[in-house]
Amino acid sequence: MPVVDTEYLKQIDKARRDLRAFISNKHCAPIMLRLAWHDAGTYDVNTKTGGPNGSIRTEEEYSHGSNNGLKIAIDFCEEIKSKHPKITYADLYQLAGVVAVEVTGGPTIDFVPGRKDSKISPKEGRLPNATKGVTHLREIFYRMGLSDKDIVALSGGHTLGRAHPERSGFDGPWTKEPLKFDNSYFVELLKGESEGLLKLPTDNALLDDPEFRCYVELYAKDEDAFFNDYAVSHKKLSELGFTPS
Ligand code: HEM
Repeated sequence: MPVVDTEYLKQIDKARRDLRAFISNKHCAPIMLRLAWHDAGTYDVNTKTGGPNGSIRTEEEYSHGSNNGLKIAIDFCEEIKSKHPKITYADLYQLAGVVAVEVTGGPTIDFVPGRKDSKISPKEGRLPNATKGVTHLREIFYRMGLSDKDIVALSGGHTLGRAHPERSGFDGPWTKEPLKFDNSYFVELLKGESEGLLKLPTDNALLDDPEFRCYVELYAKDEDAFFNDYAVSHKKLSELGFTPS
């Protein structure tokens, strides 16, 4: 555990400011959010392995197929890390995710520092496979200890960014303004196929299951409900396996 003393908190505060400027200037909120999610989303609630521990910075882990492209975000974070060396990678990546949502107009997500770094990478295959459906989504997210509501709320992260053919084989953004965090992911999802916009099989799966679909419909019509639930689910994701001291 890093010692979260006054000096550590001061560096967190400075890093937060630097990240705000960096992410806004470089328009890199989507990939920073994806980095935070992929570091955290390997968590296994039964073995208490994986999770937001900075292990994605190891070549072994960022070379996993599902992490294609994320070395860019790892290198961006290294620039911040060199200015605030006390901060753990685990904290820095999660802080970057929180700031990415904030600077693009999303909800404020509570950030608690103190995550420990690890260089032990879980085996490949813990993150969701975009070509699959409802059962797979539940298997993966329940393994993290997350719920149906978390699955739908967090899928709303696709309000930001796009898929790149050379990274995932998929192409295009989910929404018309991929640098704006809003509820348009759910609005577009309910509209169905739309010229130029992407829907992964796992996005469409949220319409196939009645429990998931309820949340999709709620979030499409009530952005405040989405922002509130997203902030809670994102905080949970960012703290998997972490008990703040
Ligand atoms: C991008 C899959 C959940 C945030 C992507 C891409 C895929 C994908 C295939 C395209 C990558 C590329 O080609 O660059 C999935 C699947 C999920 C999931 C199967 C299961 C539900 C999430 C969650 C978040 C998230 C929970 C965050 C809360 C993002 C963001 C991008 C992205 C921000 C855009 C990255 C960029 O523009 O570079 N996702 N994702 N995803 N994902 Fe997800």
